[in-house]
Amino acid sequence: MAKTLAPEHLEIRELTIDDLAAVFHLGEQLFTSAYSPSMYRTWDEYEITTLFNSDSELCLVAELDGEIVGFALGTTIEKQNSAWKYGYLVWIGVRPGLQKCGAGHKLFGEVKKRMVEQGVRMIVIDTDADNEAGINFFKKQGFDNIQQHVYMTLNLSRPRHKRRSD
Ligand SMILES: CC(C)(COP(=O)(O)OP(=O)(O)OC[C@H]1O[C@@H](n2cnc3c(N)ncnc32)[C@H](O)[C@@H]1OP(=O)(O)O)[C@@H](O)C(=O)NCCC(=O)NCCS
Repeated sequence: MAKTLAPEHLEIRELTIDDLAAVFHLGEQLFTSAYSPSMYRTWDEYEITTLFNSDSELCLVAELDGEIVGFALGTTIEKQNSAWKYGYLVWIGVRPGLQKCGAGHKLFGEVKKRMVEQGVRMIVIDTDADNEAGINFFKKQGFDNIQQHVYMTLNLSRPRHKRRSD
C-alpha cells in the first residue's frame, strides 16, 4: 500500500497560465529519453498550451507547499454518429520522490470526476508497453482491456538501404 500525502497539504486545482513553465519542466524530468523514447519525443510546450486552450477544466495540477508536484492533462473526444463521449487522459505525472504517495490517484480522481460531469462514458489512456509503473497505476485506477499498438520510427538522417527495385 502506498504512503499517502496528507490531503490538507496537497491541493488539486486547475492549471493556470503561471503554471505552464513548472509543468513543462516537471514533464522534462519525467519523460526522459531513457524512461520512454516516445513520451520524450512528444512532450513539448505545445502539448500543454494546446490542451490548456482547448480543455482547461481537464488540465490540473497538484500543488504541495506552493510548488507544482504533479499534473494531469486531458481532453474529450466526440465522434460523429456516436452517442459516446470519450475522455482522453493525455498526460499524467508526479514528481520523482513524491510518487507512490497518492498524488497520482488524487489527480486522476479529479480528472475522472470532471470528465463524468462533462458526459464522458469511457476514458482512454495510452502509454509505452514497457511503462510498467504507469500501467500498474492505471490498472489500480480501474483501467483494463489493454490493447497493444505498434509504434515505429523512420530515421531520416540515416542513409537509406537500397531496395531491390531501386
Ligand atoms: C504514473 C504516476 C503518475 C503515478 O503517480 P503516483 O502519485 O506515483 O501514484 P499513486 O501514489 O497515486 O499510486 C496509485 C496506485 O498506483 C500504484 N503505483 C504507482 N506507481 C507505481 C509504480 N511505480 N509501480 C507499481 N505500482 C505503482 C500504487 O502502488 C498505488 O496503488 P495502491 O493504491 O494499491 O497503493 C507516476 O508514477 C509518474 O509520474 N510516472 C511517470 C510518468 C508516467 O509514466 N505517466 C503515465 C503516462 S503519461
